[in-house]
Amino acid sequence: MSYPDMMKQMAERQKKIIENMNKIKYKISVFSGKGGVGKSVVTANLAAAIAGLDQGGVGILDSDFTGPSIPRMMGLDRSQLEVVGGRLIPPQGAAGVKVVSMAFLLPEEKTPVIWRGPIKKIALEQLLSSSDWQGTDYLIFDLPPGTGDEALNIMQVLPGFDGFIVVTVPTEISRASVSKSIGFARKMHAKVLGVIENMSGHVCPHCGNDNEIFVGNGGELLATEMKVPLLGKIPLDHRLSETSDQGVPMVLKYPDAPASKSLVDIAERIVESLK
Ligand SMILES: Nc1ncnc2c1ncn2[C@@H]1O[C@H](COP(=O)(O)OP(=O)(O)O)[C@@H](O)[C@H]1O
Ligand SMILES: [Mg+2]
Repeated sequence: MSYPDMMKQMAERQKKIIENMNKIKYKISVFSGKGGVGKSVVTANLAAAIAGLDQGGVGILDSDFTGPSIPRMMGLDRSQLEVVGGRLIPPQGAAGVKVVSMAFLLPEEKTPVIWRGPIKKIALEQLLSSSDWQGTDYLIFDLPPGTGDEALNIMQVLPGFDGFIVVTVPTEISRASVSKSIGFARKMHAKVLGVIENMSGHVCPHCGNDNEIFVGNGGELLATEMKVPLLGKIPLDHRLSETSDQGVPMVLKYPDAPASKSLVDIAERIVESLK
């Protein structure tokens, strides 16, 4: 392809992204400087909780190209992806949430992705320009850990990005690395909607005692230090991982559990802050 043709194709894709994304009212991303803090499980549950508030349709774009986990958490697999007239039709998972994930496009679920930054950017642009998000008012991006290509690409490529929701665990080490991610977001002039402290306390299912497994109050400290709202704290609860593996978010299966109530409160706060 000649250089002018390539530039033309890029400009057309950019135009399509803008058209496609402008139809979606709110675009937010769950983000953290650390892996394994619960970004994906929080994304899946917040999406289901927001859908339950009846404020509009909800979608998730799983942009964790190296470890996409959202489809499984929402009870979906690649076979449900339809392509109609060159458009990707996102399948609807738990709570009617529409999901597009890199996992759908990989030849096999186990294929490792070792793409470099520019290829990831093109893949993201492709997903943004060709997925049909009709009826989606809230689009949540799940990201891999850190301030790598995916986070950068979202801020560069996505028109009308509303901001990041930052997830940390209570420990000081987590607070320190997550604080760097907030600094990064600020540098890129992206808004930070607030902090979630996940794995915050654990009520023993046998004796009912509230134990601190991860010691500290990193989420609270981070929120104060960075002058952003603390959106809420989510306790450790084995049902969060159990329901993720089953493909039914915990907020749907165990709505009365403290972790679910906290997730629903956080969802309400997010929806309110976006208005
Ligand atoms: N509050 C919690 N209680 C129990 N398990 C949790 C909690 N938060 C996350 N997990 C579990 O921890 C693991 C990592 O979570 P995940 O969402 O994949 O993290 P990340 O996307 O940040 O890498 C998963 O198995 C998930 O089910
Ligand atoms: Mg994840």
